Amino acid sequence: MTEIRATNITWHEGHVKREDREKLLAQNGATIWFTGLSGAGKSTIAFTLEHALVERGQLAYVLDGDNVRHGLNKNLGFTAADREENIRRIGEVARLFADTGVISLTSFISPYRKDRDRVRQLHREAGLPFIEILVDVPIEVCETRDPKGLYKKARAALAAGKGIGFTGVDDPYEPPLSPEIVIHNDRITPQEAAVQVIRYMESQGLLPGLKWISDGVISNESRR
Ligand code: ADX
Repeated sequence: MTEIRATNITWHEGHVKREDREKLLAQNGATIWFTGLSGAGKSTIAFTLEHALVERGQLAYVLDGDNVRHGLNKNLGFTAADREENIRRIGEVARLFADTGVISLTSFISPYRKDRDRVRQLHREAGLPFIEILVDVPIEVCETRDPKGLYKKARAALAAGKGIGFTGVDDPYEPPLSPEIVIHNDRITPQEAAVQVIRYMESQGLLPGLKWISDGVISNESRR
């Protein structure tokens, strides 16, 4: 649990409402949370989806595990406590992005259910949509892909009796019990996966077909 050290602080309410920003952007903020094993293809799908959304006039941004660990979270490793803090911070950042009206796409293993559930709760309290997507690929397939050679390293370390706590090898992965979407990413392309997410978002009214501008309503198509 996070220790609270900030004292003597006061919440300031801004003068601009979320609806004002959403009207400006002609979209609603949301968090699309990808979870799954290393090598399952979370980042590839997230970046493909980001591209597709921006192409259709929606502002989306990927918060990617490896990338965020180069900056904001460079002081965190892979102990259970560090992974919890990694997800806590990114959950907060995603919520802030969504509050600005951006569709934030997060790509983190996020292996522990309670950490993801806490982020879901954070969004619920803020009245922001949270879509959890399990990128479901059998570990054998992830190990065969092994794009970074990390499974090989983890297996070798384990065989040598000094495991490195690698997710799926010697650290647990707890899949979501009721994710909004499951992507079987060993059977479809990243493009098809992105379409699957877009279809879901459309079905939930998260991607409005019409866009507001200051003097009226125009469609996405006629804007181009
Ligand atoms: S998380 O568990 O805290 O959510 P995150 O998604 O940020 O992990 O980072 C995972 C990436 O870090 C993996 O794709 C892999 O490249 C790298 N990595 C390095 N060490 C580990 C480890 N012990 N377990 C899992 N991934 C690791």
